[in-house]
Parts: sequence; structure tokens; C-alpha cells
Amino acid sequence: LHLTLPTLLAGYLLGSIPFGLLLTRLAGLGDLRQIGSGNIGATNVLRTGHKGLAAATLILDLLKGVAAVWLGDLGGPFGLFAGAGATTLPYLGLIGGFGAMLGHAFPVWLGFKGGKGVATGGGVLLAGAWWLGLGSSLVWLATVVLTRISSAGAIAACAAAPLIALAAGRWDLALFSAGIAALVIYRHKGNIQRLLAGTEPKVGRKG
Ligand code: G3P
Repeated sequence: LHLTLPTLLAGYLLGSIPFGLLLTRLAGLGDLRQIGSGNIGATNVLRTGHKGLAAATLILDLLKGVAAVWLGDLGGPFGLFAGAGATTLPYLGLIGGFGAMLGHAFPVWLGFKGGKGVATGGGVLLAGAWWLGLGSSLVWLATVVLTRISSAGAIAACAAAPLIALAAGRWDLALFSAGIAALVIYRHKGNIQRLLAGTEPKVGRKG
């Protein structure tokens, strides 16, 4: 039994849970995709004016990234299922995390139109290497505090993550976080156009 594909699939399924969409629908706020940027993430939940729901979305989207990495790690060389794989891989945790990113960005349940992967990517990096997740999260936070623009924080964090990994001498994590960053930046195409046009809304303002 090769664990790579099952790990990727388990991560994908975890990542594809659209917490922002579910929480706002449960709260009777309608379809989040019709509000603000139309995105299903915490930033857009905040545009409904419900800070608690936005915080819950941020945390749950982050935790599904963490969970996918931990699930993958179970099959890694030190994991519970280490014996089950003919080929146990040291990177199974990261493979699970990458699956979660794909699931979040391209969920089968939503016609493959999902979120931008900022919170989930943060969770994946935190669980993969806590210092890398923490460093990128601090860059995100500092940028959002300074600019009041969520997408600017995301793009800054994407640029920072591979550099932080390189500075720590971890080319493997630099490569991995560059892959995550490429996906997140690709999903921010619309935001980048608005940033360049000077029309990107500030945090909490309706888009
Ligand atoms: O977390 C996604 C954020 O960077 C941008 O969200 O809704 O402004 O497109 P949004």
C-alpha cells in the first residue's frame, strides 16, 4: 500500500470543507459567494459584519490545514501507520497539507470554485514547521495591520515563506512553501488587479 495518494486524498477531503460558507449559511446570512469579493474565506465573512464568525472561519480553515498535515504524518517514518506503507515517506505530512490546499482552493462540492488558501496555508506551514508558519503569519499580520488590506498580507506572507525557509537552510521547505505560495497568489488574481487599480477594499469594509 502506497500512502501518497490516500494521504493526498484525505488532505483534499479535509481541505474541501468550506467552513466560511457553512458557518454563514447556518447563521442565516445567505450565500457568502454573493457577498463582497464572493470568496469563501474569513476576510469575506468579516464583510458580513460578524466578527465571531470570521474568527471561527479563520481558525477552522487553519485547523483543517493542521489536521491534514498531522494525518499525513501518521503515515510518516515516525507515525502510527509507519509499518503499513511499503514506502513510508518523510514528506507525507506535507503531502497531506498540499492536498488540503487543493481541496480548499478547488472543492468538488462547489464546482471546484473554492477559497484562496491563506488560512489553510498558514495551518499547513505551522504544522509542517512551526517556525515557518509563525514567521509567515507574523509577516501577514504586520502587513494587514500596516495596510488594512487582507490580500496584501497574503501576498507578503507568500513572498516571505520561501525566504524564511531558505534563511533557515531548509531548501526542501523553501520549495514546498513556494508551491503553496504559487497556488495562493494564483487564487489572488482578482485581488492583485484591484490592488494595482487601487480599488482593493480595506479589512471589514464591504467589497
Ligand atoms: O484570505 C483571502 C484574502 O487574502 C482576500 O480575501 O475576500 O478580500 O478576496 P478577499
